[in-house]
Formats: sequence, structure tokens, C-alpha cells
Amino acid sequence: MTKKINRRHVLTGAAAASAFGMASTLPTHFAIAGKAPIKIGILLPYSGTYAMLGNSITDAFRLRMVMAGDTMGGRPIEYSVIDSEMSVPKAPQNTNKLVTREKVDFIVGPVHSGIAQAMAKIIGRRTSPIMVVPNAGSNKVTGELCAPNIFRASFSNWQPAYPGGEVMANDGHQTAVTISWKYAAGIQMMDAGKSGFEKNGGTVLKQLYVPFPDVEFQALLSEIAALKPDAVFSFFSGGGAVKFVKDYAAAGLKQSIPLYGPGFLTEGVTEAQGEAAEGIKTTLHYSTELTNPTNVAFKAAYEKSTGRKANVFAVQGYDTASLLLQAAAVVGGDVEATDAVIHALENTSVPDSPRGPWKMSKAHNPIQDIYLRQVVGGRHKVLGVAAEALEDPATGCKLV
Ligand code: PHB
Repeated sequence: MTKKINRRHVLTGAAAASAFGMASTLPTHFAIAGKAPIKIGILLPYSGTYAMLGNSITDAFRLRMVMAGDTMGGRPIEYSVIDSEMSVPKAPQNTNKLVTREKVDFIVGPVHSGIAQAMAKIIGRRTSPIMVVPNAGSNKVTGELCAPNIFRASFSNWQPAYPGGEVMANDGHQTAVTISWKYAAGIQMMDAGKSGFEKNGGTVLKQLYVPFPDVEFQALLSEIAALKPDAVFSFFSGGGAVKFVKDYAAAGLKQSIPLYGPGFLTEGVTEAQGEAAEGIKTTLHYSTELTNPTNVAFKAAYEKSTGRKANVFAVQGYDTASLLLQAAAVVGGDVEATDAVIHALENTSVPDSPRGPWKMSKAHNPIQDIYLRQVVGGRHKVLGVAAEALEDPATGCKLV
């Protein structure tokens, strides 16, 4: 479906259309008519278990651009938006559509680590476009698949998970079981949590997996009950996280075996999880409860424009737009000068992110604080900083 307005939007799928619907109500920019638009391709999920994530990223990205007058370096912006449908098999075709047919200057996406790896294999072999990942944590994307034109504004899967394992050990737990979806993000986060736990004296008894994006947990919850670990470490997100946390409580495990994990387990879904989420401790690079002035202003603006509460995914979308705006300003709008844009992105620091200040590592991944949070009264109370200015090891990255 193609919708022609003052800025062209190539919208694949009805859900992508509605996710980006707010753009059509924006004012026309007569003053900059005549300047060629900067083209941004967006590949995010607007359907399925990660729909909330894709919508949060998109809405906050748009919010940031609107705040900047909907121009980058003095040029108008043209969007091509595709619903990833969380499909790894469709990822090469979707990526190629944006690269060769739409000839975008930037690609913003994805949410899903498997899709990120497929995209990085295509984009990293070229000099352009420049890809900025607003969520997917695949360690490989800023590790063995790292490339000059691939950046991430979110996290690596190792970053929030490793300190989570440390926290579990520091809380005095000696044994744990991990449970997640069996795909790149789940496997990498569970392995990082296990290593943080075991380096601090814990033992992981078993690593349990369900296929992505299945939500049939009963058999594995029975296995956890039989294994009787001191704690459980878990990654689920979006719709799947709602179901897992509720099923865990309903199975009677919540009281006897505390649940830990990277903050995605409760992020953006505490309301839907209700009482079942109370008390869960997680580690993440954000909490809505951070009191820095950017976060206070960001939450208010996001809530006003969307009618929904902010979350880490929205912050990542917002910061992705901030990065693109900064880089476009440095090159005076000449984003076709790819080397100069890359140089600008490499030297970005984001001193005023809602998550707190962060800067880009040599592998193009944020160096950032990881907070320890606990769900109290439906909010992510900040208990402290679990890891300060944490940098991903970037194993296998030739840029480092
Ligand atoms: C990922 O696939 O990298 C991923 C997805 C959802 C999250 C975090 C990571 O909440």
C-alpha cells in the first residue's frame, strides 16, 4: 500500500499504516520544499507478540522528529515503513526492498535479534545505507557482524543480562534455572545471565526453552517446580512476557522461587501483568522512575502524544532519532556523504537521554549504566546501579 502525501510513505501492511498514521496529520513544510528529502526506511514489528515494542519505538521516534520540526539538517524526511511481522525468512527481502528499491539513506530497525543478524549480513557488506538498531540486542551485530555503517542505540543482549546474573548471586541464591524463547536473543541473554551468576558462585541447574513466539509454559513450569532452584532467570518480552509472568504466579511458583531477568520481562507490560509482576527484580538501561530532567520531560511528551506510558522501547526510538538528527546537523544535511555521517555517529555522545548519559563504543553500541529495578505498585522502582558505564565485550568485532 502506498500513500502519497507531502512526504511519501511506503506502508507495507495495514498495521504499519496505522502505526504511522499520525504522520499524515503533520503540517506541510513549504519553507523547505525544493530540497530533496532524506529517506528513512523503518523495519519494525506492528503485529504479533512484539507489536507494543514496534509501536513504542515508532511513536517516540516520530515524536523526536516532530520536536525537531520534522526536518534533518534542513531537509524534509520521507519514510518507508515495513511491518517486519517478526519474520526472519522475510528479513532479506524486506531489507533489500528498502535498500535497492526505496534507496533509503538510513534504516531504522529491527526489534528481533534474528532479523537484526539477517539485516546486518546484507547492510554490513555495503557502504550505505546506515543502519541504526533501535532495539534488537544480538551480540553479533556489534560483534562478529559489526560494520562501519551499523550502529545501535539500544543495548547488546549481554549488557542487561550479565549484571542480572550477578544480582541473583549477590542476593544469596545458589542455584537457578533459566527459561526463555529459543532464538538468538533468548539464548544470548540466558547465557550471559548464567555466566554472571556462575562467576559469582552460583550454579545453573538447567536451561529451559520454548520455541519463539510460543506461550505454552505449563510443562516447563512443572519441571521448574520439580527442580526446586533458589531462583529463576528469564527473558520474555511484549505479549509473551505478560503470559509468562501470569502463568508463573498462577502455577504457585512466585512465592517460593523468585523470578529475575533482563528488564524486558516487565517493561511496558506491568499493568497487564498486574499483581503477578509485583516484587520481580530486573536489570535494564532504563526505568520510568529515573528523575533526570530529560526523562521527566520525555515521559510527559510521550504520554501526551500517544496516550500511553513511556517504556524503554520508546526511549530507544527517541534516542535513535536524536542520533540521526545530530549526525545530519554535523554534515549540514549532506547525508549522502556517508563517511562524514559515520564519523559523526561514532563521535556522538547522548548527554541528555531519558536513560541518563551514554556514548557510542568503538563497536557502535551504547556504553551505559544498567539499573537494578523492582516492580513496586506497578512501577519500576530503582534500587541502584547494577553496572556503571557498562561496555559490551564486542567479541569478534574488527572495528575494536
Ligand atoms: C531481541 O530479539 O533482540 C529482543 C526482543 C525483545 C526485547 C529485547 C530484545 O525486549
